[in-house]
Amino acid sequence: MQRAPWPELGHEPIPKDRYTSPEFARSEWERMWQRVWLFAGFESDLKRSGDYFTFEIGTESILVVRQPDGSVAARYNVCMHRGNRLREPGRGNAGRFTCAYHGWQYCLDGTLLAATDPESFPQRLPAEKLALRPVRCETWGGFVWINLHAGAIPLREYLGVIPEHLDPYGFERWKLETDMTIEVDCNWKTSVDAFNEAYHVHATHAATLEFTDDTGTTYDCYERHTRMIFPEVIASRRHPGHGTVTEGIKKNFLARVGVDVESFHGGPADARREFAAAVRRLGESLGSDFSQLDDTQMCDDFHYTVFPNLTFNVHSMFVWIFRHRPHPTDPNKMYFDFFNLLNTPAQDVPRPRHERRRAGEGGDLSHIPGGEILDEDLYNLPRIQAGMQSSAFEALHLGDQEIRIRHFHDTLMRYIAAVSP
Ligand SMILES: [Fe+2]
Repeated sequence: MQRAPWPELGHEPIPKDRYTSPEFARSEWERMWQRVWLFAGFESDLKRSGDYFTFEIGTESILVVRQPDGSVAARYNVCMHRGNRLREPGRGNAGRFTCAYHGWQYCLDGTLLAATDPESFPQRLPAEKLALRPVRCETWGGFVWINLHAGAIPLREYLGVIPEHLDPYGFERWKLETDMTIEVDCNWKTSVDAFNEAYHVHATHAATLEFTDDTGTTYDCYERHTRMIFPEVIASRRHPGHGTVTEGIKKNFLARVGVDVESFHGGPADARREFAAAVRRLGESLGSDFSQLDDTQMCDDFHYTVFPNLTFNVHSMFVWIFRHRPHPTDPNKMYFDFFNLLNTPAQDVPRPRHERRRAGEGGDLSHIPGGEILDEDLYNLPRIQAGMQSSAFEALHLGDQEIRIRHFHDTLMRYIAAVSP
């Protein structure tokens, strides 16, 4: 719960061309994306030797593979013969990687095992030169991370306070329940920004004010990453039911965890206490471990943004993870990866199929609990991007509730300036 000091970042407008210009997107790719640790996928998808998944980022595709010795290694997903992509995007298991073009074969560790007609290469086939190119790869929290910069600092150092704050949740034991990619017509930062403040909640998600308190949100900025604690199971000061236990709190929280709302006559603090206690009881049969979480963590959304493109909406029973990926060439497009993990280690949750969608006019995610809220955000994104193109709009005008966006830009510009933050 300890607060970070408020950062002194000034009040300058943020130029909009960072969101719209292909030149800026190229600088981002060269100076930022290739130097940061990126969440590539889940360790739970790499149970056995030879299990692999690909991770698409910008113009690159990375092949992440469980090695026979139990370690996880990453390589560029490209055959060193003529540049063919070795594997289609996705997951699988392989004993070796064979290029579909000419049949060159690579071992799981990336060394060239065999090339067709090797005698037809009088210059020989130097093993070192023709091994799949390695990529830095480390794990934390059940997540696999890669870094395209060979000289990058270790992952733990990069993550800063994040493991200390999030290890108590034990994500490595949580179960993946949703795995979805949504194509959105906006810059990847337009999407990151949309989840970095609670200032938009009263306008975009008016129906939630009955059971969340946008006005009580706290914002913390760390070295690269940021946090907000977004109070839930409490009505907003902007809502007439503030200071009472609203129908929304009863319906969306208390009733869902088995509290008898007819016989509940407590006040707002009792509702939060009751909700936390009920979740703790519920979790016992599901294998959830709440031993290191306090009641605030049981009720509120502990929201972390790991620079540059990872959003954690951490709740006691589930975590929504958003991964915002840039389009390889168009700054007005991005890929929004949506993962939901459930804190139900004792439950058998089948690995969900990867779904692909395009953001439409809303309603795309209404089948997911809370998905209508995400739909409201996705509805905004292309409209923000379209509006930013206007000659009438030059820069983002940010207030104190948007300090995480300002901090994000400060971190980004330190990378662009090639000063390692
Ligand atoms: Fe939102």
